[in-house]
Amino acid sequence: MMRACASAPGKVILFGEHFVVYDKPAIVSAIGLRAYVEAVKSDRGIVLDGWGGENPAVKASAYVTDRLGYSGGLNLRIRSSIPQSVGLGSSASVSVASAAATSLLLKGELDLELIRRAAHMGESLVHYRPSGIDTTIATYGGGGIYTRSKGFRSMSLNLDEILIINTGKARRTGDLVKRVKEFRDAHGEEFEKILEDAEGIIWEAVDALKARDLELIGRLMMRNQELLRRVGVSSKEIEDVIELCMRSGALGAKLTGAGGGGCVIAVAEDEKIPQLMEALGRRFEVMRCELMAEGVREDSFPDLP
Ligand code: PMV
Repeated sequence: MMRACASAPGKVILFGEHFVVYDKPAIVSAIGLRAYVEAVKSDRGIVLDGWGGENPAVKASAYVTDRLGYSGGLNLRIRSSIPQSVGLGSSASVSVASAAATSLLLKGELDLELIRRAAHMGESLVHYRPSGIDTTIATYGGGGIYTRSKGFRSMSLNLDEILIINTGKARRTGDLVKRVKEFRDAHGEEFEKILEDAEGIIWEAVDALKARDLELIGRLMMRNQELLRRVGVSSKEIEDVIELCMRSGALGAKLTGAGGGGCVIAVAEDEKIPQLMEALGRRFEVMRCELMAEGVREDSFPDLP
């Protein structure tokens, strides 16, 4: 094979971001936005879109070439429909697609565990203590419960779509993970209590999702948001979007991913969605996004800008 292309989905964390870093469970879903990487053999190093420096996608690809004993070079090309640095797992998806394209090119198959591990190595370059949730869901797709020490348990989320509102403020995951650590260092006892509450929300949310109880899902999102606010990862932009969501008919909304800006997710009854999109769309980028999307796969390189 001379060239190979793979794609991997972005993600939303429905419940439990940040607390997942401290080994609490989180509920996560792959979404219908994807990153694509094409790999072509070359004779000099691993070069990404003409750039030879270190970055997560290159590191993920290099991990695969090392494991497969390939010492030649690779040219990698990226296209992605996932907005960057706003909590939708764009970087992890690119790392997963990069490891997958490398594995396809050199081995002719997708070795999922190798890909997940390679992408995790790549992410360690830019993230501070990554829990592994982004790379796991981008690899395996679908949705379910992720715990750092126990891994991924897939589960039907019973929701086809979610509203994603981009506050438009980019931020760095590592900075926000550090902010939570500082909170924990300063308020150890309170943080332990918050972790307990966060875990309680997860198990209630699992039941609410099974029952497709949108009202309860909405209320649990608001409770989860309150905990994220307390550990310092909400922001004025996030709170403004949530307030607008609630004024426009949503049942609940919260930040998704690291916070500090980035994206907000919201749930609403189907008939309220058009009015919500209209109200939010006047000020923000709003996406009605498929949940439970397919994980990493062989793909063709798309005609995206
Ligand atoms: O990098 P983001 O914004 O897609 O989300 C990362 C999720 C965190 O829980 C904040 C960090 C982690 O490693 O789990």
